[in-house]
Amino acid sequence: MTCVLVVGASRGIGLEWVRQARAAGSRVVATARDEAGLQRLRELGAVALQLDVSDAASVSGLAWQIDGYQFDEVAVVAGVFGPRTANIRQLPTEAEFSQVMQTNVLGPMRVLPQILDALAPQARLALLSSRMGSMGLRSSAGSSLYRASKAALNSYLKDLSLELAGRALCVSLHPGWVQTDMGGEQADIDVQTSVAGMRAALSRLSAADNGSFLNYDGQALAW
Ligand SMILES: NC(=O)c1ccc[n+]([C@@H]2O[C@H](COP(=O)([O-])OP(=O)(O)OC[C@H]3O[C@@H](n4cnc5c(N)ncnc54)[C@H](OP(=O)(O)O)[C@@H]3O)[C@@H](O)[C@H]2O)c1
Repeated sequence: MTCVLVVGASRGIGLEWVRQARAAGSRVVATARDEAGLQRLRELGAVALQLDVSDAASVSGLAWQIDGYQFDEVAVVAGVFGPRTANIRQLPTEAEFSQVMQTNVLGPMRVLPQILDALAPQARLALLSSRMGSMGLRSSAGSSLYRASKAALNSYLKDLSLELAGRALCVSLHPGWVQTDMGGEQADIDVQTSVAGMRAALSRLSAADNGSFLNYDGQALAW
């Protein structure tokens, strides 16, 4: 039976990832920060673990909680958008900077070492990034902190892919502009389409795709 881990699954893309993996018959372990989120995961038949990626003590307990699992598919989804600034004169506060970077960058950096021993051979591992982090595709400014955090996450993904080459296939994924709390109701696609696309893209990965940045439909994106 395929085994799936989803980090940051209380709602939105993470919760839908759990729903689709369970519907496909996978054994699923998923994380949330609060009891309401944990309960939603249990109702889907997932093993629910409490985890806050911005809290070092919380993440430090992950490895022993997943001891014995061999995950074929991992999605690190937890993320925050932070201040929606319009231009470079609008600075984030230090607290906003810390929250966005701790969640979107340091969070995955903390989580990954905890799960390395629980990866199945040739596991497929996705970090939820964003096209907004692409420098090659950027044509407007705004929300600079979020963009910087996803560019930094993409840099980390590259290191991860080099370190795990031959052992796992790692990619940064842009989920599309998705109708979630973060994306808003006016977004382009629904969460079902986004997650189905990303899971299909993961299933098609070959060794040559390790360390790449992909759209939810599997198309390569410019860094
Ligand atoms: N929606 C889009 O259009 C879009 C586009 C590009 C990229 N993305 C990326 O896709 C990912 C998921 O986005 P979404 O649209 O599903 O967002 P969302 O609806 O706002 O959900 C965010 C998820 O991240 C979790 N989270 C936030 N901070 C966390 C922390 N410190 N520790 C653990 N979990 C934490 C939230 O948990 P709580 O419920 O506890 O807050 C929630 O489960 C994010 O990384 C986002 O940057 C989204």
